[in-house]
Amino acid sequence: MNPSTQRRIIDELSTLLAARSTQLAEHPRLHSIDVYRCADLHDRERDELFRRRPLVAGYAEELSKPGDFVTREIAGIPVLMTRDHSGVVRAFINVCRHRGNVVCEAPAGNAKAFVCQYHGWAYGNDGACRSFGHPAAFDGCSLSDFNLTCLPAEIRHGLVWVILTPGQDLSVESFLGPTLDDELANFAESCVRVFEQRVTTHAFNWKLGVETFLEIFHISTLHRMSIAEHFLDGLMTSEKLGPHHRITAARPSFSEVASRPASEWVITDHCTLIYLLFPNTVYLFQREHVQVYSFFPGRHPGECQVRTALLRPNGRIADRATRHWQNNWDIISRAVYDEDFRAMERVQRGISVGASDGFILGRNESVLQEYHEEIRQCLDPLSAASARLFGVRDGDI
Ligand code: FES
Repeated sequence: MNPSTQRRIIDELSTLLAARSTQLAEHPRLHSIDVYRCADLHDRERDELFRRRPLVAGYAEELSKPGDFVTREIAGIPVLMTRDHSGVVRAFINVCRHRGNVVCEAPAGNAKAFVCQYHGWAYGNDGACRSFGHPAAFDGCSLSDFNLTCLPAEIRHGLVWVILTPGQDLSVESFLGPTLDDELANFAESCVRVFEQRVTTHAFNWKLGVETFLEIFHISTLHRMSIAEHFLDGLMTSEKLGPHHRITAARPSFSEVASRPASEWVITDHCTLIYLLFPNTVYLFQREHVQVYSFFPGRHPGECQVRTALLRPNGRIADRATRHWQNNWDIISRAVYDEDFRAMERVQRGISVGASDGFILGRNESVLQEYHEEIRQCLDPLSAASARLFGVRDGDI
């Protein structure tokens, strides 16, 4: 983070601390619960938000050597990611070009080639079709016409990025914009090792999962027995960076250092930085490690898939500090899985019983207000139906 940005954030937080306040939106805003239960909207989100934009699909360490591969389903698309024999990172739809079987069923590994189990077609780790299995049956057919369907892929900031639609241009740098690209580069330099990762399915809409990271004033209540002691109650500031966000949440030690010259301390020692990589990934820097949470739509609006990872630093000391990283991972499990995600499952059940038509997003939920407005604009900025669904008219309250 550049020094002037750091200074500005410290000044904002110090002002809020002195006023015993937090960042506030202009108004509370009504928010339709249909955004969490409408099947049509769910389909449009999957098509518009998840299939045409760069998504975090994995971690660079998973594809560190030629031949490394990972398979996973992302927003309903089976994806095979590889580092090919020449070192190029690639992504493919993991579907055989013969008659549609899954090509690679292993979750991860290292391979020169993949052989479809149905009829034996073989593909190189560069996606090239190498054999028809029964060549005589395909006289006159060219292998090169049956390569795996390629998806745009790139490694940047320790993450593997993929667009789920073939043929699209991918530039993660321009997707992030200069500020965010520069700030993530700093963390990626220090945190690229995957200590642990987990993929789970939950009974709540994918946006509810993202929302748990977009405000911090629930921490003193929902997390009072777990992580509340690590945050200064409700004190945060945020900045919208294109469609993305940076939230800076003060830790208790912030109140002790806030009055000292900024040159004497670094913001990451006294604040947690939470980046929303629009639309679905939370990249959270916590002193010396990174937590990554990616939320994907499930089979219906009330289901989502979550992929979580703890990325730790490299180096001999970091390698040996297994117990330290395990403690961090356990804290995540307790606070996020046992508390946040269970609460979101209760919220989704509340939505399904139709107790009310809408929620209200308070002035201290400004990032949630901006997040839902961004989604609405991406889906259909001109649609009256969309405006009705999201209930975003100014002055609603
Ligand atoms: Fe893969 Fe036939 S479907 S070889």
